[in-house]
Amino acid sequence: MSSEVIAIIGGTGLTQLEGPQITAAHNAETPLGNPSGPIEAGEWNGSQVLFLARHGHPHALPPHKINYRANLLALQQLGATKIIAVNAVGGIHPQMGSGKISVPHQVIDYTWGREGTYFDGEFRPLDHIDLTHPYDETLRQQLIAAAGRISQPLHEFGVYGATQGPRLETIEEINRMENDGCDLVGMTGMPEAALARELGIPYASLCLVVNPAAGKSDGEITMDEIRAVLRDGMQKVRDILAETLSGMADSQPEQ
Ligand code: HPA
Repeated sequence: MSSEVIAIIGGTGLTQLEGPQITAAHNAETPLGNPSGPIEAGEWNGSQVLFLARHGHPHALPPHKINYRANLLALQQLGATKIIAVNAVGGIHPQMGSGKISVPHQVIDYTWGREGTYFDGEFRPLDHIDLTHPYDETLRQQLIAAAGRISQPLHEFGVYGATQGPRLETIEEINRMENDGCDLVGMTGMPEAALARELGIPYASLCLVVNPAAGKSDGEITMDEIRAVLRDGMQKVRDILAETLSGMADSQPEQ
């Protein structure tokens, strides 16, 4: 078994992994509060895994009420050495239609009012981390390579725009985001990526496009349409995760 402990944070539509053999469920506590729910620990394709449903299970916590700081701290306490985040997103880029998968390389943060740092002068002394490249390039490439091995097409790049939610956006908000360079829009990508960097844990995201963003298709966005895409799409995401873990286990020395 590899010495890496891969934490997977599941978003909307991924509240259970199904693949791993779960051996424990931890009700972790941190000095910054409790994570969204129990953190499952187990083994999947030769890798040690942790799994946390970001919105709780059943899905209940809205994006702005998630205790991102506690979630990541709890995963670190349980030994996470890498974090793969799964995010359901809207597609802005013309090639990011429903059902498409992207491994974003950049992020723009439009959220507000979230506890977004450990270096707040209370929990830890003020510090300024580098976030030039918000996602870990090695981990991104591991996800991309795994998708390639199972012939699952995906976009290797994407600029993720993180919005406050829980409402979806207006057409002009999406137009503005497109002008800013966003390819994808979601509500949970930040401050998660920044917090992982603050903790020094390599972090990457696997995004499933579940709807064209506002104004990018005729008519309104419905939850029915999103649910239909989630069902098949998250299975593709699970397949990529399973192959990623198996690739990591093969490339690691035995413990
Ligand atoms: N906007 C913001 N977040 C989302 C969307 C969207 O269109 N779809 C899924 N998450």
